[in-house]
Amino acid sequence: MPIDPDSISRKDAKAFLQMQLEFSVDQSIGDDPVNRYKLKEDKPRPARPPKSINLRAESKPADFVGIASRLAAQARNLDELRNSLEKFEHCELKFSARQLVFSDGRADSRLMIIGEAPGRDEDIQGRPFVGRAGRLLDAMFAAIDLSRNSESAANGLYITNVIPWRPPGNRAPTSEEINMMRPFMFAHIKLASPQLIVLMGNIACQAVINSAGITRIRGDWRDFLGIPVMPTFHPAYLLRNPLSKRLAWRDLLAVRLKMRGEVGSS
Ligand code: URA
Repeated sequence: MPIDPDSISRKDAKAFLQMQLEFSVDQSIGDDPVNRYKLKEDKPRPARPPKSINLRAESKPADFVGIASRLAAQARNLDELRNSLEKFEHCELKFSARQLVFSDGRADSRLMIIGEAPGRDEDIQGRPFVGRAGRLLDAMFAAIDLSRNSESAANGLYITNVIPWRPPGNRAPTSEEINMMRPFMFAHIKLASPQLIVLMGNIACQAVINSAGITRIRGDWRDFLGIPVMPTFHPAYLLRNPLSKRLAWRDLLAVRLKMRGEVGSS
């Protein structure tokens, strides 16, 4: 809000100038504050559906996990699964996010990567792992000749997240949110039908193999519906803990060996 110069005393004005000097303000740029975080072409957020009023006091709480399971089970292919998610109105995250972040890469890839949830960059672009952590993920998999932009399925990557909408302020998804979105993620795995899965970080491990404690469980092959699954560190964790990259590299070598039909475990 612009300050009306007539409404402040000389004393306050002096104190205000003194504060600006202390904050190292040395230029006057404009009278009105500008929200530099607002995007020029900000997409309209999905509209929240009107709440239906339930007059029957004894009615049971809605079974959102059941609704998610039925919707997810109806999808016969990945396009239908994406449409089901677009129609699903019961996860609050949908209404604070800019858009759905469904997947990226080649759906026919042998390897599927599952992360946690979109962050700011992913929310803006509508694709998973496109920020700093995503650049590290791309570099890690390029080191074993795999890429989301590959021209062949054999060297391709298919990338998605447990949660398809950005949690506000990048907070961790709650257990309720994970449980609600799990049926969609399981359907996603079944429809993509990869030969191997890499789970990045604790949330992905909790959602898919019901295990947490990534430092303990990483590097050992698990099984999900007959598909070998490798738990490893999330790239965002590796950015904060570069010493752990050594262990993540071991996990990737195990993935490479497995893809070549050799054993591969750390
Ligand atoms: N972290 C994730 O887990 N997923 C993304 O898409 C981006 C960052």
